[in-house]
Amino acid sequence: MKIRTLLLTGSLALLATPALAQTMVGEAHDFSGTGWAGGEICKPCHTPHNALSDETGSAVGWLWNHTLTTAVYTLYDGNTAGAGPDDGTAAFDKLSRLCMGCHDGTVALDAFGGQTGSIFITGGELVGTDLSNDHPVGRTAVYPEQGDSHFQAADASHKLGPNGELKLREMNIDGTLDYVVGCMTCHTPHYKGFNDQLRMTNNTSALCLSCHIK
Ligand code: HEC
Ligand code: HEC
Ligand code: HEC
Ligand code: HEC
Repeated sequence: MKIRTLLLTGSLALLATPALAQTMVGEAHDFSGTGWAGGEICKPCHTPHNALSDETGSAVGWLWNHTLTTAVYTLYDGNTAGAGPDDGTAAFDKLSRLCMGCHDGTVALDAFGGQTGSIFITGGELVGTDLSNDHPVGRTAVYPEQGDSHFQAADASHKLGPNGELKLREMNIDGTLDYVVGCMTCHTPHYKGFNDQLRMTNNTSALCLSCHIK
């Protein structure tokens, strides 16, 4: 009996560990308990059927379900640019556009699956459309991939960080293909075990030092 209990406890612990560690359950982007997400985790962002296309008619990709932002932003350099599409004029790469569909505060959190929605992001998580006081992204953050005296060199897959955790994002800037820093360079939409949905630890500023030589 005692042995059986021990074995049972042991196997339950084994079963429980992967479910608790490093999944998005209970993390910042688990909206299943909020009342506006239909009780599901993936649905505000993904759908199994009838995923969205952008204004050019191309599929957004990633089975995207959340209404795209069409806002105009003030960038780090003070210039303005629109959310997209990625046609050479956009402010940032297409993945950052997906983040800003909730974080710029112009599209409702519950604007997914064809509904308009009415609940907006607030507080520290509201990045807004003025990006002049945020870390540069997109057209104001073209990365010197070969490295120079101020920046680490990126690897052949456009990655940085001790284990290649940080990926630069492809973007068309005025007709030229460039690799830029985007929201998804530093963050993950899911969860990788680090604070603030980061892709690696920023203890002792390790994330910052993966790019900046300081
Ligand atoms: C807050 C928005 C958001 C939520 C919620 C979300 N995702 Fe994602 N997901 C994204 C974005 C953005 C991408 C595209 C970027 C990338 O490659 O990670 C993506 C990509 C993916 C991909 C393809 C790339 C990869 O990482 O394998 C899969 C599979 C995926 N998500 C599954 C899920 C599942 C399953 C859930 C629910 C348990 C979920 N996602 C919840 C935003 C979200
Ligand atoms: C469906 C809307 C939605 C999308 C899409 C979305 N977010 Fe969020 N995000 C939120 C909300 C709402 C919160 C605040 C959750 C809370 O109250 O704790 C949040 C929180 C965060 C946080 C704070 C995490 C923490 O631990 O405090 C970060 C960082 C973040 N999001 C980054 C991103 C990035 C990067 C993307 C694009 C890959 C993205 N988000 C896409 C709605 C969204
Ligand atoms: C260069 C890396 C980097 C980029 C690019 C970046 N972030 Fe962050 N972000 C961070 C770090 C680091 C933190 C944690 C800040 C802290 O510790 O105070 C953070 C925090 C956040 C938070 C939580 C803020 C809060 O007060 O709770 C949100 C939301 C967020 N980022 C969204 C975004 C979005 C959206 C983008 C794209 C426009 C983006 N980030 C681009 C590094 C980055
Ligand atoms: C993925 C690489 C990457 C990471 C990670 C990163 N940066 Fe940057 N950072 C850049 C790029 C690229 C620019 C734009 C540089 C330019 O064009 O001069 C930039 C710009 C800046 C600037 C503005 C410089 C100026 O001339 O005004 C500061 C300050 C800065 N980063 C600090 C940080 C801090 C702090 C962190 C960590 C939270 C961080 N960066 C993480 C790549 C990165």
